[in-house]
Amino acid sequence: MRSFIAGTGSYLPERILTNADLVGMVDTSDEWITSRTGIRERRIAAPDQASSDLATEAAKSALKAAGIEAGDLDLIIVATLTPDYMFPSTAGLVQRNLKATKAAAFDLEAACTGFIYALTVGDQFIKTGKYGKILVIASEVLSRFIDYEDRNTCVLFGDGAGAVVLVPSEDGDRGIVSTHLYNDGSMSDLLIAPAGGSRMPVDEEAIAKRLNTVKMRGNVVFRIAVEKLSELVDEVLEVNGLKEEDINFLVPHQANLRIIKATARKLKLPMERVIVTVDRHGNTSAASVPLALDEAVRSGRINPGDMVLLEAFGGGLTWGAALVNW
Ligand code: COA
Repeated sequence: MRSFIAGTGSYLPERILTNADLVGMVDTSDEWITSRTGIRERRIAAPDQASSDLATEAAKSALKAAGIEAGDLDLIIVATLTPDYMFPSTAGLVQRNLKATKAAAFDLEAACTGFIYALTVGDQFIKTGKYGKILVIASEVLSRFIDYEDRNTCVLFGDGAGAVVLVPSEDGDRGIVSTHLYNDGSMSDLLIAPAGGSRMPVDEEAIAKRLNTVKMRGNVVFRIAVEKLSELVDEVLEVNGLKEEDINFLVPHQANLRIIKATARKLKLPMERVIVTVDRHGNTSAASVPLALDEAVRSGRINPGDMVLLEAFGGGLTWGAALVNW
């Protein structure tokens, strides 16, 4: 039994933060940001918006696309590293907002790979027959956890949410073909928000040192991302007995256009077959893959019969992929 993606949805906050805006905030340039990352602009949530609000909007559009009522949902999973609260879960708030009264709900944290992890978990519930209608959402308001005086990170990240609805596939071939998850906790310090958890609660010193914001050894993470994603591509092809030319579309995590291009080269895939949103969204962590997927589906680029590879890499360090026969 395969899990079928019955509908996709996404939501982006209205406010746009351009590279030109950032030039006025830190010592950077549009040329540096564009050439090193491919990012031109990113979205920033309104002051009264939190992750559950973005998630709810993305969920509504995915449910509409799938033709499924919120009241019929069995489970809601929200992948986020920027939850509304430490507890209750963001998924629980989405359940309330949608009036999905029947649905169990929980959050999942696997940083930028969160959507791939959440999709994998949802897939298991469908495969075992435990649940039949599952909403998998990834939502981030990263702008609340960024130091806008740190040029190493503030140019990279943005806010947004994406969602899919999973149901059992009626056509045996269509649906999630395979999923692949990895974590290497020995490299957890490379990408981290040190304060705000039980190890270092937010206090005056933490705030003064901005330890509640994202810290990243960007160039080290970059190198490992390219290497691990290349290995992952080999694994997905080998496990499924496929060749590079069998993959029709790549929907990568949108962290850096240079990383995306390296993975595309590995797949021998022309850039027309790679879904790129990093220029307009920046890095929205877990939300980036479902945001890009929704854009590609709604614009008619991805169609039934396409073999689609979703992949992501991020804090943890985590990385993972899902192969979907659309
Ligand atoms: N504007 C101008 N200069 C900047 C800058 C900015 N916004 N940010 C960093 N620099 C400078 C650095 O200070 C450094 O200067 P120095 O050589 O004088 O010390 C120089 O640019 C090169 O820095 P480096 O970090 O080596 O650049 P890079 O080519 O690796 O690009 C990233 C930096 C962050 C764009 C890139 O490393 C990256 O995308 N990393 C991976 C991100 C990722 O995949 N994360 C995982 C998912 S979240």
